[in-house]
Order: sequence, then C-alpha cells, then structure tokens
Amino acid sequence: MTIERSEAETVAYTVENRIAWVRFNRPEKRNCMSPKLNRQMMRVLDELEFRDDVGVLVLTGEGSAWSAGMDLKEYFRETEAQGLGATRQAQRESYGWWRRLRWYQKPTVAMVNGWCFGGGYGPLFSCDLAFASDDAIFGLSEINWGILPGGGASKVVADLMPLRQALYHAMMGENIDGKTAAEWGLVNESLPADQLKERVVAVCQVLLEKNPVALKATKDAIRRVKEMTYDNAEDYLVRAQEAANSFDNDGRKEGIRQFIDEKSYKPGLGAYDKSKQAQ
Ligand code: ACO
Repeated sequence: MTIERSEAETVAYTVENRIAWVRFNRPEKRNCMSPKLNRQMMRVLDELEFRDDVGVLVLTGEGSAWSAGMDLKEYFRETEAQGLGATRQAQRESYGWWRRLRWYQKPTVAMVNGWCFGGGYGPLFSCDLAFASDDAIFGLSEINWGILPGGGASKVVADLMPLRQALYHAMMGENIDGKTAAEWGLVNESLPADQLKERVVAVCQVLLEKNPVALKATKDAIRRVKEMTYDNAEDYLVRAQEAANSFDNDGRKEGIRQFIDEKSYKPGLGAYDKSKQAQ
C-alpha cells in the first residue's frame, strides 16, 4: 500500500519535560528527505526554537531509519526534471534547515536509531551532540550510485573523522555500525538500542541544568573557533563573552557568588543552581 503523506505529516514532534522530540516521519520511505519534509522541518524548527517550554531539541527518526539521506526520486529526479531553478530551490530548502539547526538557539542532540545515509550527515553534523544505537548503520552511499558526497557530506566527514577514515568511508561505499561511527568521531557514543533513549534523556537533563545563554555562546564558539587562528579565536571569545553578558550578566555573577560566597557548589564538579538567580 502506498502511503501519501501530507507535507505536515512528514515531521512529527512532542515536547516532554522541556525536551522537544523531533522525528523524521516517513518511516515507509526510511525517512529519506523529500522537498516536502525539508520544508516542514524548517517550520517545526521555527515553531520550537524560542518556546519557553523547550530547553533542548532531540532529532530522531520514526521506524527503522534515522534518515536514508536525500529522496532519490522526489529530491533529485523530480526536481531535476523541472530544471535548474527547481534544483536550486530544493537545495536551499534542505541546506537551509541544516544551517538553521547548526546555529540553533537551543542545544541539539541527534539520536540515531537506525539507517543514516548521505544527505543525513548534514543534519547529523548540525546537531551539537550525537548518540547512536550500536546497530545503527551509517554510510556515504553516494559513490555506490555515482555521485560525490555533496550537500556538505564530504565536509562533515573531513571535519569529524581522521583523514584516512574520511577518505576510506567516502571512497569505498562501505557502511559502518554505531560503534565504529563513535570510534571514527561521527557520533559521541554508541549504545545498545534499548539504552539509547535513556542515555539521551540523561544528557538532555544535564544540558537543561546549564545557563542557556552560556550554552548557546559555547556551542557557537566551538564551531566558530575551529576555523580561526589562535589569535582570532582569542579575540572572538572575548567579544562573544561580552555579548553574552549583555543578555545574561546576572547568571555569571550568580555562578561566582554561589561558589565564592555561598560555597554551595564547585564549578569543577557541577553547575550552579539557576533557580536561585530569579529570587
Ligand atoms: N530515496 C528514495 N526512496 C528511498 C530512499 C531514498 N534515499 N531510501 C529508501 N527509499 C524507499 C524505497 O525506494 C522503498 O520505497 P517503496 O516501498 O515505494 O519501494 C522504501 O523506501 C523502503 O525502502 P527499502 O529499500 O525497501 O527498505 P530496506 O529496509 O530494505 O532498506 C535501505 C533500507 C538500506 C536504507 C535502503 O532503502 C537504501 O539503500 N536506501 C537508499 C540509501 C541511500 O543511498 N540514500 C542516498 C544517500 S546519497 C544522498 O543522500 C545525497
């Protein structure tokens, strides 16, 4: 039976305990990314980004896949048939939400529950942290059907993996499991499937305890300084902290106060109590 999903149905989400669980929702197509899905994902990211009841976003997939990459029929063949303008539009729509996610206001976590191919590496990289099931399968299958890993995928493996692994992965078209993906730097950790969600929730709970202004400044800083000289990074970080202070000077002062005056926590061992700041 062919399932015809409306655009709105291609992405699902729920918000529980300040965690937004966003799911690629085309399990019957292994969550491959069609233009409809790409447009809907941008709407969902828009909807969630500045909501007060959302502190962290998890991106995962319905069914057996995280995402089987770009939809070879709807993203490639059908848009190419409409000419260059349609191709460029489809690229803007997919690259657009990946970029949005890369610089998202809230911390983001990829929970890779299954297949993750090609174009899927874009949103995988966009998420700040990534956790995979041991039996998840990752592949740059582009070479297997005759293209190079585009849409950022080559950049993703060149940035995240050691050079030899990146070249092997891209040139051989062989898949790797979650454990190897963790060893090669594509994800933070790989866990047995039945422990994956529990671990992701625990990570989210730690993130939810942190100062949100400092978290946004930190995640952006790590991505930005990677491509700077030391001196440029040093300067950027001074400016970035000063800018963060204008959003949240009290949080930083409260963090110092609770350690130095109140002696109620140690920054080396955990986060200060944000709830006291509002009092
Ligand atoms: N594009 C379009 N349709 C897809 C894609 C895709 N990337 N992936 C899966 N589908 C469709 C299949 O055509 C099939 O459709 P149908 O039911 O109408 O025939 C349906 O999803 C289910 O797929 P199966 O192949 O039957 O599922 P299975 O679980 O046996 O295999 C697997 C899963 C290995 C992920 C397989 O679907 C596959 O190889 N997909 C392509 C992966 C890929 O190479 N993606 C492109 C990467 S390159 C890039 O993104 C630029």
